[in-house]
Amino acid sequence: MVEQATTAQEAPPDTGRVSVFSSVRQMDQPPLALPPGLAFDSRLRMEGLHFLSLLPSGAAPVAFLDPQYRGVLDHLAYGNEGERRGAARASLPQMTDEIPVFIAGIDRCLMPSGHLFLWTDKYHLCTGIGHWLEGTALEIVDMVTWHKQRIGMGYRTRRASEYLIVLQKAPRKAKGVWKVHTIPDMWSEKVPGRRVHPKPVGLQSALIEAVSNPGDVVIDPAAGSFSVMEACRQKGRTFLGCDING
Ligand SMILES: C[S@@+](CC[C@H](N)C(=O)[O-])C[C@H]1O[C@@H](n2cnc3c(N)ncnc32)[C@H](O)[C@@H]1O
Repeated sequence: MVEQATTAQEAPPDTGRVSVFSSVRQMDQPPLALPPGLAFDSRLRMEGLHFLSLLPSGAAPVAFLDPQYRGVLDHLAYGNEGERRGAARASLPQMTDEIPVFIAGIDRCLMPSGHLFLWTDKYHLCTGIGHWLEGTALEIVDMVTWHKQRIGMGYRTRRASEYLIVLQKAPRKAKGVWKVHTIPDMWSEKVPGRRVHPKPVGLQSALIEAVSNPGDVVIDPAAGSFSVMEACRQKGRTFLGCDING
C-alpha cells in the first residue's frame, strides 16, 4: 500500500548553494472583468462551452478540465463495473467528442504561461492526447498520478489511480511561474464519501497554489462536485466555473 502523503513534501535541505528554484511567482494576472450572467465563487449551472465563450481572452492563470470520459468503459464489456454503477455512469452527460473544443476554449482564456490541469483516464493516457492540442498554444509539461487509496473496479487490474496532465500555454516557462517545488508526482489522497467522480481537493489546492497568486481566478467549465471551488476557498483564490448539471 502506498504511504499516505496528502500534503506537499518538505523542501530539500539548504546546502548553501544557490537554488535553481524560484519560490516567487513573477506573473500577475491581467484584470478579469466578470462577464454579465456569471458569478465568482458560485456553483453555476451552465453548459461549459457556452461558459467559456463568455470569458475574456488571455486573462486566467489556471484552469482545470475533468471531462466525462467513457474511453475505458467503451473498451470493456459493458456493465463490467456492476449494473447499478454502470447505469449511473452511462446516464451522465458524455463529452468525449467535445474535449478538443473545451481545450481550445480554455487555451483562449488562459494568460500567457498559464496552466491547464487536465484529468485523463488510462485509455487516453495510453493512446495519447496530442491531437487534442493541435491548433492551441498548449504543451504538455508534466503529469501527476493520483493514488486514490481506494480499490476500484476492473476485470484485469482494479483501478486505484487517475492521471492529471499538466499543460502550459506558451511561452513555456517554469522559473518565476511555478513557485511550489515539493509536490510529488505520485499523490496519495483519499476522497471522503462515495460520489461518482470527485477529485482530490488537497492535490488541486497544491497545484493552484503553485501557479497562481492569492485572489487570482481559477476556471473549471465542468466542475461536477465543485472540488476546485473548495480548493480555491482553501487557498484564497477566486473560482469561476460551472457544470451542465449545476
Ligand atoms: C468527471 S465530472 C467532473 C468532476 C469534478 N472534477 C469533481 O471533482 O467533482 C465531469 C462533469 O462534466 C459535466 N459535464 C458534461 N458535459 C458538460 C458540458 N457540456 N458542460 C458542462 N459540464 C458538463 C458533468 O455533469 C460532470 O459533472
